[in-house]
Amino acid sequence: MGNRLVENQVLLEGLNWRYATKAYDPTKKVSDADWATIEAAISLAPSSFGIQPYKFIVITDPETREMLKPAAYGQTPITDASHLVAFAYKKTLTDGDIEYFVERIAEVRGVGTDTLADYGNVMKGSAKRAVDGGYVETWNSRQAYIPLGFLLETTALLGIDATPMEGFDAAKFNGILGLTDYSVVVLAAVGYRDAANDWLAPLAKVRKPDGEIIVRI
Ligand SMILES: Cc1cc2nc3c(=O)[nH]c(=O)nc-3n(C[C@H](O)[C@H](O)[C@H](O)COP(=O)(O)O)c2cc1C
Repeated sequence: MGNRLVENQVLLEGLNWRYATKAYDPTKKVSDADWATIEAAISLAPSSFGIQPYKFIVITDPETREMLKPAAYGQTPITDASHLVAFAYKKTLTDGDIEYFVERIAEVRGVGTDTLADYGNVMKGSAKRAVDGGYVETWNSRQAYIPLGFLLETTALLGIDATPMEGFDAAKFNGILGLTDYSVVVLAAVGYRDAANDWLAPLAKVRKPDGEIIVRI
């Protein structure tokens, strides 16, 4: 029966345990081994065609995080969590991006780029349609939420807290982080909860009832 690695109950226990942590213990740091796993997990997220039109900016520098906090309306996870990740999407897609990707496939799989010409043209066509149609930023930014999801599930299973955050001023973040070709779309703070000082920690998780959220036909 496939390559099963986790039992139903263990998985659900992790997902029920996680919550959008509001208060972090600034003295508790994620270990290097766990952090390496989290970075690997977000890098393994699927993306459309596999182009990965994003970067993950891992911010541990305390001064940078102090500068970012007011641009995130003072949210304390920005400075207090062990790590902060800014998910930044690429603002456009060029033929050069596709050619880079085709060369990467050729290198990793040990094949000639000539065998990938048709695939490359399909991708260039999709990229051009997205640029000309004015939706390349929508397309690329959506991709960045898949690694965010991977991060949230990975951390939950590792017993590490995480907070997804859209409450920030992207233009200010881009300026502080020196981004021009990329734009931050969502953040994740990662660390360990300060449960005693987190108003959300004792509250039950609120979700729509099964019958309203899942449509079975
Ligand atoms: C895309 C996204 C953006 C969010 N932005 C913020 C935020 O800026 N600040 C915050 O404290 N929580 C933020 N949240 C957390 C949500 O409020 C939270 O996930 C939701 O209420 C469900 O609760 P739970 O995550 O504790 O299960 C965000 C969540 C998502 C998925």
